[in-house]
Amino acid sequence: MQIILCDDANQVAAVAASWFQTLLAQKPQAVLGLATGSTPIKLYQQLIALYQQQQISFAKCSSFNLDEYYDIAAEHRNSYRSFMQNQLFDHIDIDPERTFLPSCSSQDNPRLVGQAYERQISTMGGIDLQILGIGSNGHIGFNEPTSSLNSRTRLKTLTEQTLKDNSRLFTKDEIQPTMAMTMGIATIMQARYILLLATGKSKAEAVKQMISGPVSANCPASILQMHQNAVVILDKEAASLIEEQSYLRNAANENQRLISRYGLNLGDL
Ligand code: GLP
Repeated sequence: MQIILCDDANQVAAVAASWFQTLLAQKPQAVLGLATGSTPIKLYQQLIALYQQQQISFAKCSSFNLDEYYDIAAEHRNSYRSFMQNQLFDHIDIDPERTFLPSCSSQDNPRLVGQAYERQISTMGGIDLQILGIGSNGHIGFNEPTSSLNSRTRLKTLTEQTLKDNSRLFTKDEIQPTMAMTMGIATIMQARYILLLATGKSKAEAVKQMISGPVSANCPASILQMHQNAVVILDKEAASLIEEQSYLRNAANENQRLISRYGLNLGDL
């Protein structure tokens, strides 16, 4: 696990955006794994700015989102499809036909939807760079604590903590979905690179468990300890419980030098 310590949320976004630039310079047809939530919004703003300055193009990319609420209309203002359109897709040159979310209505068989999503990711050659946030309970995507570390895309019931954390986005008269389709932990782990972004004090404990706790289904993000190319980008508050910060800074600088010299490792999955 590589840990990059940043001063603030703007720097977290800038560092993450530079990974996209490196990736797309090396592989313009990259397959991107995208996330929702408040954390990646600044990253998406940076990507839009880079696109407007003609420093990056998504024209040949495809994208797969981590998750989508169960049985929510794409046009609903709180669907993750709407989020992605508003925060990113509508402002860049990605082909809308190649942006995928694991949408599942009550008319669909969730098991078949999950399997089809997995097949589609494989058909496109697998995810090159997966963006993740982290829930205050250590979840990634909607893989809540106790999720199988070997799980694949499927329907998950959300915990009370997650419902509470996300309730700010729903008005009193809107029904907040209690289930979601999410990539599984094994699906996420298959990405060639993973960038997990965390900002703010409310994430500090989950970040500590992820980095230095045991690998455990109680903190799904801790599985990233087993990934060959997992990069965790933190602001000061999210990193406040992390030890050995000067070692981490040195190691991150060395890793950056290696990537500048040899490029990203985008070989076979
Ligand atoms: C949500 C999403 C996750 C996200 C997390 C944190 O429920 N399913 O993908 O990483 O919670 O969200 P935020 O960035 O808003 O704190």
